[in-house]
Amino acid sequence: MKCYRIAAVPGDGTGPEVIREGRKVLDTAAKKFGFKIEWTDYDLGGARYLKTGELLPDSALAEFRKQDAIYLGAIGDPGVKPGILEKGILLRLRFELDQYINLRPIKLYPGVDCPFKERGPDDIDFVVVRENTEGLYTGTGGFLKKGTQDEVAIQVSINTRKGVERCIRYAFEYCRKRDRKKQLTLCGKTNVLTFAFDLWERAFYEVAKEYPEIKTAYAHVDATTMWMVKNPEQFDVIVTDNMFGDIITDLGAMLQGGMGVAAGGNLNPEGVSMFEPIGGSAPKYTGRNVINPMAAILAGMMMLDHLGETKAAGAIEAAVVKTIQEDLKCMDAGKMGLGTTEVGNRVAKNLG
Ligand code: IPM
Ligand code: MN
Repeated sequence: MKCYRIAAVPGDGTGPEVIREGRKVLDTAAKKFGFKIEWTDYDLGGARYLKTGELLPDSALAEFRKQDAIYLGAIGDPGVKPGILEKGILLRLRFELDQYINLRPIKLYPGVDCPFKERGPDDIDFVVVRENTEGLYTGTGGFLKKGTQDEVAIQVSINTRKGVERCIRYAFEYCRKRDRKKQLTLCGKTNVLTFAFDLWERAFYEVAKEYPEIKTAYAHVDATTMWMVKNPEQFDVIVTDNMFGDIITDLGAMLQGGMGVAAGGNLNPEGVSMFEPIGGSAPKYTGRNVINPMAAILAGMMMLDHLGETKAAGAIEAAVVKTIQEDLKCMDAGKMGLGTTEVGNRVAKNLG
């Protein structure tokens, strides 16, 4: 029997609650489709940092490198200064494991209550391919004369030809494999960021020559946010840099019904990938059994798909859709009409 070794990092806040439900569904899928998941738990996050000062021990990183994938809940703690846990754990994992793609599907499932509820998967079904190891996220820069009237703060966007090109090439490949509209949109800001996006644009159209069957399009990032709301049906796959990808996928989460359904994969197509709900640790909902575990369940679905268990992944998605249509009033925490555990139970039941 096939066995996958998965590192579970429930993390902070509501992370453990949603990962628990996700594992319930994944284990049910494993039983049904005849494979095994061997879980190893890692207690990384704010609590551990506050107790021991540790963020991501090298030993944990070394073990992650030998796993088939990582299943992450949330990282972030109101008691820790912003940036420490994010940089020390989440971003360090993305960088060290060279997870250069952040794949974020934006799909409005039927029956989801949201400002776009008149629409459905025919209108809102696209995927953002976000570059995940460069741009403004590398921490390049610093202060001069910090705290004085002459203070200077510099934060540099790093764009390497190699990093940009591998991301763009992944997006073209993904668009081909997805086989829907066969249209890839580069989202940038060529009218202002005339160095960074000049490189992106050149790489984009050069790689495009290898994919004659894929239509190319370009949109500035500000216009992209407008089109996402006005005419989301025009998009198929969007490729963009790290910062823009971060911003437009929170907007994307709202198109699909909220952070409660938005999932993503941090992919190293040649290495170890990590799957997570894209929302944060939601401290105000922690421990109350009100948070929506769908995003974590869908992150688990993406993980199985990535591991090659496409049938199991499809069945999880179908079980999620059934649960949303039959049982959930809304995707927001506290308004679902069911508790976190019950949502997990329903999805597992609909699957089994
Ligand atoms: C995300 C998050 C992270 C990011 C934060 C927590 C560092 O917002 O995964 O989108 O900016 O990438
Ligand atoms: Mn984000």
